[in-house]
Amino acid sequence: MNILLIGSGGREHALAWRLAQSPGCTKLYAAPGNPGIAEHADLVALDPADHRAVIDFCIRHSIGFVVIGPEAPLVDGLADNIRTMGLPVFGPDKAAARLEGSKGFTKDLCARANIPTAAYAKVISRDGALATLDDFTIPVVIKADGLAAGKGVTVAMSREEAEGAIADLFSVSGAEAVIEEFMEGEEVSLFVLSDGSAILPFGSAQDHKRVGDGDTGPNTGGMGAYSPAPVLTPALEQRAIDEIVAPTVAALAAMGAPFSGVLFAGLMLTADGPKLIEYNARFGDPECQVLMMRLQDDLLDLMLATARGELAGRDAVRFSADTALTVVMAARGYPAAPETGGAIDGIAAAEKTGARVFQAGTRSDDGKLFAAGGRVLAVTATGANAGAAQAAAYAAVGKIHFPSGFNRGDIGWREVERETR
Ligand code: AMP
Ligand code: GLY
Repeated sequence: MNILLIGSGGREHALAWRLAQSPGCTKLYAAPGNPGIAEHADLVALDPADHRAVIDFCIRHSIGFVVIGPEAPLVDGLADNIRTMGLPVFGPDKAAARLEGSKGFTKDLCARANIPTAAYAKVISRDGALATLDDFTIPVVIKADGLAAGKGVTVAMSREEAEGAIADLFSVSGAEAVIEEFMEGEEVSLFVLSDGSAILPFGSAQDHKRVGDGDTGPNTGGMGAYSPAPVLTPALEQRAIDEIVAPTVAALAAMGAPFSGVLFAGLMLTADGPKLIEYNARFGDPECQVLMMRLQDDLLDLMLATARGELAGRDAVRFSADTALTVVMAARGYPAAPETGGAIDGIAAAEKTGARVFQAGTRSDDGKLFAAGGRVLAVTATGANAGAAQAAAYAAVGKIHFPSGFNRGDIGWREVERETR
C-alpha cells in the first residue's frame, strides 16, 4: 500500500521510520517532510493547507492511506476532505479535533460528562474576564481558546500577572479565553488510540516543557521526554481511562463527532486522582519519538485498524519494557527567536552509539545539514531504566557537533531521582 504522511517535524520523522518498516508499506511519501524523513520516504512539496492539492496527489499516486501528524491540518478539516474521497485517514475529523482546537469546547464537554478537570469559566471580553477573575483564587490559569502552538497558556502567580495575560489576550479582536482553577500535582501524558467507539491504550510519557534546566524559563513545545512514565501506575492509568478518556470518546460519538486517531491526554495527578489538563488530537512531539522507540507492534497495522474502526477486541499494544528518553537539541534563541542556519555534524557518530537522531527542524544543502527551526534534533536512546536511557541519550548528544545549538542537561531528572532514592 502507498502511504502519504503529512508533516515535517521530529514526530513525523519517528512515524516515517516506523511506517517504512511495515511489511504493508509499499511506498511512503511525506509532505512536506524534512531531510531525516527523506531517509524513509519520498518528499513531496505539498502544502498541507491546500486540501485540493493533497487529494490530487493521493489520486495520482494511488495512495491507500493518509497519516496526518500535526494538529493544524486536523483542526482545519484535512481528514474530513480526504475521507470524503473514500480514503482511510489516521487523524480525527475537524469536529472531533475541536478537543485540541478549542479549550472551551473541551471544558464544556468535560462538564457535561462529569469528567474530572479544573473548574473553569469561558470569557469573551476583557471586562468579563476581569470580573470573572474574582471567582478564582491565585494562582490561576488563563488560556486562549484556540490553537496557540504552546504559547496560549499563562499560569499566573499573582492577580497582576493574570490581569496582564487577560489584557494581552483581549488586545486581539474576537478573542475567547478560558479561566481555570490551578491544579497541583505531577503532569503525565497518556496516549490512546480511538476508532470512534473502541479505545486501545498506547503508552505513557512525561515531557519537559520549560526551556531551562530544573524546569525553568519560558514554555516550549517540549525540550525532551521519556516513556514509560512509571508515575502513571497501571491503577492510575485505568482510572484515567475510565473517568476521563472513555467518557470523552463516548460523548463525542454521542454528539455525532466520533474521534478517530490518537488522543493525547495531558493529565495532572492530583491528590484527588488524575484530572484532565488538556487534550491533543495527535501524537506529542517529542513524546512520539520515545513511544516509537519502544513500540514492538506494526505501526501501520495499528493505524489502519484505528482508521477502519477495527480496534474492538484487539490485544493490548506491545511496548518494550525499556525506557526510551529523548533530548531535544534546539537552535540558540529558542523559543523566542531561534537562530537558524547553524551547521550540524556528527549524526552518524551519535547513531553508532545505538541512539536514533530524529530530525525536527533541519534542511540539507549539498549533503550538509543545517538548523532550520527552533527544535532541531531529538536524540533518542533506550536503557533498562530512566537513568540508563538518560546516560545513553547524553552520550549520543556528546557526539553531535552543533555549535549554534543548545540542549537541557537534565531530561528525565524526576524519574532518575526516584530511581536513585
Ligand atoms: P496546556 O496547553 O493546556 O497543556 O497548558 C500548558 C501547561 O500549563 C500545562 O502543561 C501545565 O503545566 C500548565 N497548566 C495548564 N492548565 C493548568 C491548570 N489548570 N493547573 C495547573 N497547571 C496548568
Ligand atoms: N510536547 C507536547 C506536545 O506535543 O504538545
